Amino acid sequence: MSYPIHRPRRLRRNETLRRLVRETRLSPDNLVAPLFVCGGEGVRREIAAMPGCYQMSVDRLLEECRELASLGVPGVILFGLPEKKDAEGSGASAEDGPVPRALRALRRELKELSLWADVCLCEYTDHGHCGPLAPGPDGRLDVDNDRTLPLLAKAALAYAAAGADVVAPSDMMDGRVGALRGALDQAGRADVVIVSYAAKYASGFYGPFREAAGSAPAFGDRRGYQMDPANTDEAMREVAADLAEGADIVMVKPALAYLDVVYRVKERFQVPLAAYNVSGEYAMIKAAARNGWLDETRVAMEALISIRRAGADIILTYFAKEAARLLA
Ligand code: PBG
Repeated sequence: MSYPIHRPRRLRRNETLRRLVRETRLSPDNLVAPLFVCGGEGVRREIAAMPGCYQMSVDRLLEECRELASLGVPGVILFGLPEKKDAEGSGASAEDGPVPRALRALRRELKELSLWADVCLCEYTDHGHCGPLAPGPDGRLDVDNDRTLPLLAKAALAYAAAGADVVAPSDMMDGRVGALRGALDQAGRADVVIVSYAAKYASGFYGPFREAAGSAPAFGDRRGYQMDPANTDEAMREVAADLAEGADIVMVKPALAYLDVVYRVKERFQVPLAAYNVSGEYAMIKAAARNGWLDETRVAMEALISIRRAGADIILTYFAKEAARLLA
């Protein structure tokens, strides 16, 4: 394999050849669009740190989803912005909350769209943590793991009843996948798919999301339940545990700063794998492009193909619509 017999540039000479030898593909089939749903009517508020992303009322969300479906995007994942919050995050399972209302409307009209509901309490608690709090042994307030589980299960049941095909727990409590699977099965909903945020890191890249979903913790941070960015063996244990508890698809989050984890999970488990190209990863590209420092389209597509190349089957990304349009 040496020069001059071998000339790797021969296969790079034109796009036709490059297409023929391309190893990794990105298609709209790989994409899931995260969307933020709020109350009211006719609402479409742009999120300052996420240009091109909006908080939408159900009517406007429907329009957005029609467009995504027509572009061939197979799925959306919904995050809710409730009208009021409390210490237990009880709004997460309210039947008339923004997410169940959106699910019912979408289910009626868009039969072919895969409807995912993020399951977490942080958008619904007044303190912004992912479950109810209790003082730990040292007296400091911490999320009460075992009291959170039935609340998550209740939320998942409410979303399934409203029409979700998929529930995606993102709270990182121990045992949540088993709690959801058990509750769904007992309710006769063995059909509902669980996508677990299995390896979810305590990441600064979630910054813009917390503004988008109004879910910033009022004190402290999430390092007591989300993973330490320094760890990957631990990610293997998290994935193994979630699969054992019944996860159908596992997720790594964030994506770009954790491509090694994406690769390792795919190599090791060979199960359907999602990666979440998170708000901060989106915002960085948007901000640089707005300054004329990067070619947005080129960099966004390069980021997405890198996530596929690392081994993700599914990419949750705020670029879903733009990417699907380009790929059409
Ligand atoms: C809720 C949740 C978060 C994200 C998805 N689900 C925020 C967090 O954990 O603080 C982040 C998504 C993004 O940044 O795009 N637990």
